[in-house]
Amino acid sequence: MKKILVTGGLGFIGSHVVVELQNSGFEVVIIDDLSNSKIDVLEQITKISNIKPDFYQIDLRDKKAVRSFFNDSTIDGVIHFAAFKAVGESVQKPLDYYENNINALVYLLQEMKNRNIDHFIFSSSCTVYGQADELPITEDAPVKIAESPYGNTKQIGEEIIKDSCKAYNMNAIALRYFNPIGAHKSVKIGELPLSIPQNLIPFITQTAAGIREELAVFGDDYPTPDGTAIRDYIHVVDLAKAHVKALQRLLDKQNKENFEFFNVGTGKGSSVMEIIHSFENVTQQSLNYKIAERRKGDITAAYADTTKANEVLGWKPEETLEEALLSAWKWQQKQS
Ligand SMILES: NC(=O)c1ccc[n+]([C@@H]2O[C@H](COP(=O)([O-])OP(=O)(O)OC[C@H]3O[C@@H](n4cnc5c(N)ncnc54)[C@H](O)[C@@H]3O)[C@@H](O)[C@H]2O)c1
Repeated sequence: MKKILVTGGLGFIGSHVVVELQNSGFEVVIIDDLSNSKIDVLEQITKISNIKPDFYQIDLRDKKAVRSFFNDSTIDGVIHFAAFKAVGESVQKPLDYYENNINALVYLLQEMKNRNIDHFIFSSSCTVYGQADELPITEDAPVKIAESPYGNTKQIGEEIIKDSCKAYNMNAIALRYFNPIGAHKSVKIGELPLSIPQNLIPFITQTAAGIREELAVFGDDYPTPDGTAIRDYIHVVDLAKAHVKALQRLLDKQNKENFEFFNVGTGKGSSVMEIIHSFENVTQQSLNYKIAERRKGDITAAYADTTKANEVLGWKPEETLEEALLSAWKWQQKQS
């Protein structure tokens, strides 16, 4: 049984990936410092899979602790989620973001290199494309100058991995996520924003639940059919399954290059207003929203061309947008 280290494995995406890895027969060990998650998630994962993953509460910025973890463990591959992820906050606290998102990555890769651990999956983001010139966005689209320190950490992260793969003969895949949403069908794990949500869906569900008074729609004057910004929303369980496919590709030595990257989205763009109306339809909740100024740094439209992931990874999303929205709402109701 292959043993996979999942960093940030108690977070939103990581927890879903842990479950999918367990479903596919992998043994999972989690490192998380609980800076943006709760220890209860470990119990919930265990309830879903009937398998308790090993857990280490380690801050990956603690180089000695990372080294001692690797000294004591035998690991076949690493999936690295642990990072700070709030775009706005990264503008206020760039050094915190560079320290966490870059140092943690470097320390992990160093320990992997020292022990010839060869398989690495990285959480990248469609933010690397900025406002792409052509839609849908293929992997050939150029990486644009980052709009935020957070976005920059993903670009730099990919460069660090690419250079490491070349120098040390490691193999890695970066998955460039579009907009992950939703929750596991068991309603035991989901997105748990510990402060005011930065993303649309948790803001919508919290508004419907009465936690937030009003949803602000940032801009209705974008050059889109209804004037609101367009994104590609992907169910987190579909996204999780893409990680298992990517890992399997590396373990089976099917990768054509040391460092590969794939878009992970649905290929379909939805505007903010379309999301609001779909949410209202599937949940029968009416949302209190108002149109507000555009938010600085937001782009007009981004949705993926997923041909490469479909054909090379053999991966396709299975869940609909409606299923994803409904699962997010069920998850929210359980929190209230
Ligand atoms: N959610 C999104 O919209 C999105 C989109 C694109 C990319 N990503 C990337 O995917 C990854 C996971 O995102 P998420 O939404 O699950 O975030 P999350 O905050 O829910 O999960 C990240 C986890 O990492 C942990 N963590 C952070 N810093 C750590 C450190 N120094 N040491 C140990 N643990 C640490 C947190 O406690 C948390 O449990 C991140 O790298 C993020 O940048 C997320």
